[in-house]
Amino acid sequence: MNSLNHHSPFSLIGKTALVLGASKGIGKAISQTLCEAGAMVTLSARDTPVLADCVKKLQEMGLNAQSLPFDLSEIKKIKLVLSKLPAFDIVVYSAGIAKHAPFLEISESQYYDVMSLNLDAAFWVSQASARQMVIENKQGSIIFISSQMGHVGGSARSVYCASKHGLEGLTKSMAIELGAHGIRVNTVAPTFVETEFTRQALSNESFHQSVLSKIKLGRLGLPSDVAYACCYLASDAASLVTGTSLVVDGGWTAE
Ligand SMILES: NC(=O)c1ccc[n+]([C@@H]2O[C@H](COP(=O)([O-])OP(=O)(O)OC[C@H]3O[C@@H](n4cnc5c(N)ncnc54)[C@H](OP(=O)(O)O)[C@@H]3O)[C@@H](O)[C@H]2O)c1
Repeated sequence: MNSLNHHSPFSLIGKTALVLGASKGIGKAISQTLCEAGAMVTLSARDTPVLADCVKKLQEMGLNAQSLPFDLSEIKKIKLVLSKLPAFDIVVYSAGIAKHAPFLEISESQYYDVMSLNLDAAFWVSQASARQMVIENKQGSIIFISSQMGHVGGSARSVYCASKHGLEGLTKSMAIELGAHGIRVNTVAPTFVETEFTRQALSNESFHQSVLSKIKLGRLGLPSDVAYACCYLASDAASLVTGTSLVVDGGWTAE
């Protein structure tokens, strides 16, 4: 059951949300947190059985959730599906991958794999979602899960950084154009969070320690740290917040 009453500006009761990349890690946590704040959440990713299991668990908790499996490489199909669905109040794009390698060694396939999921699909999904919001005069909130790497550079992270800096630019431009429709567009930019995405890299003790040494609060991020930031940006409590990035990095980018 949701824990907020109708009168709280943080309540999402009565709102619908679409979360892309919802089957694992950060997107899964975001889905649960939005549900707990009262939203009816549609979870999307490729893995249909895993997605169905996530939805079942949320429903068993008395929360409102359903699944909509998508492969985000199928842009035309996604645009068509979204154009036929009612507008969502909240769209969170959390799907993303990384293929880290030195700049001089990055291959075309590594480049296009990362850019097509992290930036291209984000662009087209958000365009299709915003079009529906405009048609239905819905003052929605669009949130991209960016990264601290959308604000700084990183060694062996040229493509990932390019994709996340791209999201930050997209966010600002969308906010400028969509503000007249009351649609807000923001990013959440986390530091390293322990998920499948980072498990292998963080299993290297010296890398793990080097990461911790840059996080001023001295700990890795939790999926819930990102989810709470999303919940705020999705809610009426953030009704004057657009075109910006909520950096959840324990102080990594402060210096
Ligand atoms: N973890 C971190 O340290 C960290 C830090 C900063 C930013 N981020 C960002 O946070 C976001 C989520 O990261 P995470 O750690 O939660 O990653 P994750 O655990 O690997 O989850 C990625 C999600 O994206 C979905 N996905 C991947 N490819 C897809 C495709 N082609 N079509 C549809 N869905 C697809 C996956 O589901 P399926 O495999 O079922 O499709 C999964 O639900 C990413 O954008 C990442 O860049 C993560």
